[in-house]
Amino acid sequence: AEPATGSQALDEVKIGGLGSSRPRVEDARFIRGRGNYVEDVTLPGMLHMEILRSPLAHARIKSIDTSAAWAIPGVKLVLTGEMAAQRNLAWMPTLSYDTQAVLATDKVRFQGQEVACVVAEDPYIAKDACDAIVVEYEALPPIVNPEQAVAPGAPLIRDDKAGQADNVAYQWEVGDKDGTDAAFAQADVVSKLRLHYPRSHPSPIENCGAVADFNNATGKLTVYLTSQAPHIVRAAVALIAELPEHLIRIISPDVGGGFGNKVPVYPGYVCAILCSILTAKPVKWIEDNTGNLSSTGFGRDMYLDSEMALTNDGKILAVRYHATTDQGAFYADAQPTKFKIGLVHSSFACYDVPVGHITAQGMYTNKAPGGVAYRCSFRVTEAMFFQERMMQAAADDLGMDQAEFRRRNLVRDDQFPYRTPFGFLTDSGQYLKCLQVGLDAIGYDDFLVEQAEARKQGRLLGIGISTMTEPLGAGNSREYDILGIKMFDSAELRVHPTGKAVLKIGAQTQGQGHETTFAQIVTHELGIPATDIVVEHGDTDHTPFGMGTYASRSTPVAGAATAMVARKIRAKARKLAAHLLEVSEEDVEWELGRFFVRGAESRGVTIQECAMAAYSNMPDGMEPGLENNAYYDPPNLTWPFACYIATVEVDPETGVWDVLRFVGVDDCGVRINPMIVEGQIMGGLTEAYAISNMQFQTYDVDGNLVGANYMDYLLPTAWETPGFELHEVVTPSPHHPIGAKGVGECAAVGGPAAYVNAVMDALRPTGVRNIDMPLLPDRVWHAAHTGQDVS
Ligand code: CDP
Repeated sequence: AEPATGSQALDEVKIGGLGSSRPRVEDARFIRGRGNYVEDVTLPGMLHMEILRSPLAHARIKSIDTSAAWAIPGVKLVLTGEMAAQRNLAWMPTLSYDTQAVLATDKVRFQGQEVACVVAEDPYIAKDACDAIVVEYEALPPIVNPEQAVAPGAPLIRDDKAGQADNVAYQWEVGDKDGTDAAFAQADVVSKLRLHYPRSHPSPIENCGAVADFNNATGKLTVYLTSQAPHIVRAAVALIAELPEHLIRIISPDVGGGFGNKVPVYPGYVCAILCSILTAKPVKWIEDNTGNLSSTGFGRDMYLDSEMALTNDGKILAVRYHATTDQGAFYADAQPTKFKIGLVHSSFACYDVPVGHITAQGMYTNKAPGGVAYRCSFRVTEAMFFQERMMQAAADDLGMDQAEFRRRNLVRDDQFPYRTPFGFLTDSGQYLKCLQVGLDAIGYDDFLVEQAEARKQGRLLGIGISTMTEPLGAGNSREYDILGIKMFDSAELRVHPTGKAVLKIGAQTQGQGHETTFAQIVTHELGIPATDIVVEHGDTDHTPFGMGTYASRSTPVAGAATAMVARKIRAKARKLAAHLLEVSEEDVEWELGRFFVRGAESRGVTIQECAMAAYSNMPDGMEPGLENNAYYDPPNLTWPFACYIATVEVDPETGVWDVLRFVGVDDCGVRINPMIVEGQIMGGLTEAYAISNMQFQTYDVDGNLVGANYMDYLLPTAWETPGFELHEVVTPSPHHPIGAKGVGECAAVGGPAAYVNAVMDALRPTGVRNIDMPLLPDRVWHAAHTGQDVS
């Protein structure tokens, strides 16, 4: 941004610009119960839809009898896969170039799969009618893990796909195999680790839902949808339902959390749209908790076999690993086309690792589809967890202090831009400084003394470190697309005659506070107070095209577009200022909120006066108005860095572990709203705690989901959640217009390894090397008492 040069520049923080912790403007409606969620949308003549789901994990459908359901008064439509097939809608494409059943026709492939749906006058009738549908199944053997999927004689799950002879969904490879093998041949020490990152669920408070309203007079389809990416949904609906895109309007009103769960297009949405077309009435579908937990995009479920080549003095020579993902019945991740296992190869980006090689394979199983980027940039969470667990195991194998081992391998400040072993180019950072701030804050050396003393008394204290940089802000359009659509973003800015402004963005908030922070970027660029700017999003008829909000890409991409459009507005305002001040444009200087004449500071005009002139007093030949838009294609991802350190005490009698202290140091470049940034970090560390401590979804041998309700799948409350002590380091991104890097997911990505490393450190005297998450008391107790790893 242009520096403020005059003496009358506004105080940026006071008017709500960068660095201001202005309170969240959206909270005014949320805390008064005036939010507007899909459930709140009621249209005249609206009908209600419910879905019948499969009780079995794998079964052939022999027959479906809907006659009893049709006979229930108030039922308007009973839709089966066969009926959907008549409109070519029994199957739909996924965001990973696979197909997914909308309503099952041939087989059911996971428990909870959509089999039929009913539309009725109210949701209770619809639910009763679902129960009245009689489906005859012929059970097939279920496959509930990748090992079973490749076992000889395993039943073929995706027999619907021509040419699919096994249960492999994809294979992928990156890095330098020969170079890596050569480095391993030179190693003094080879450290090995096997891990599983369990299936977890984003579990937003608001489940999925839609109100589809097809107007058969105008041909216009309006869908109210709780989505993180309304523009992608519009394009997908146009392609799937073969409807003209200009007659589709997707409105995402307030969204009660997304965390990656609300990026995909789900069968329920397609059914609601089809039911509205068939009944010519608005149709509302609101998913229940079990529906959300059992059928929508889960996160993780990845296995890792890893090796690290090391010198005796603690230098990493190479890494190699094989990752196996359990995709469920359909390969339905939303991720950039080129990268079959997301950005897992961003692992080891913060360490100076000369060479590496990754192989990956995804498996179909009889489980719900997903593998979505749950609060992360496409499997980056798994990557960073594996990386940091490997770092700790390697330090242990070397008999080296874990902080010192990281210090010897972290990329130094003078190495940027730094090419990672798997081809990324990281932009900037002060990794060693962040680590030191964290170590000082936790009192590392003192803790080691305390730990040694405690061990003498049989007490198990541990300290865990997690340091990582992650790629936030896909894309650039050369490398990143979803279904061929490039991952740029956009902003449109309208400044009204009185200097009040409306900013429209293609991103979509789900709780991150974009209405607050995106106004702050405009304030920074134009000096218009943030309270005079309203931010609009989530309506495809009224906002410019954008790829949506996930992977912490809003600030890096749409935030950059916002700065760029504000600069276009300022360029035009400068011409207006020159006209008003009767000087040439070259003689006009800018300070925050005001243009003035060079050498005559007191002669100036405010941005508001320029805005009025744009509508009332423009120079001859100038187009009236003060509006513009910008599409931003980022030159690179932004690379924030984080250092998380936990101290814990494990109770050897019960296996329960308590967090004693937790220190977080985040460097996300320039912070737009420090309060919101801290809130994002605390939320992420809470989710990380839940995953490491209490949360996972598992399936029994028959493919029944354990964790299909919130009695089994635990959400942390304030009571369990530890307190967090947060610190900051600021290294601006060199390529982002305001130097900001993404932050929304850093803590969820880097947090789990800090907790697990701390518990493993506490258990080191027992010889235990790994316990797979979640670190439930029985697992920890078992490990502590047997000295055996628990997987
Ligand atoms: O894409 P998403 O909004 O989930 O993630 P983000 O871009 O990292 O932003 C999360 C929230 O933190 C937004 O309200 C951002 O504007 C804010 N933020 C900030 O104030 N400063 C930063 N350097 C990064 C994000």
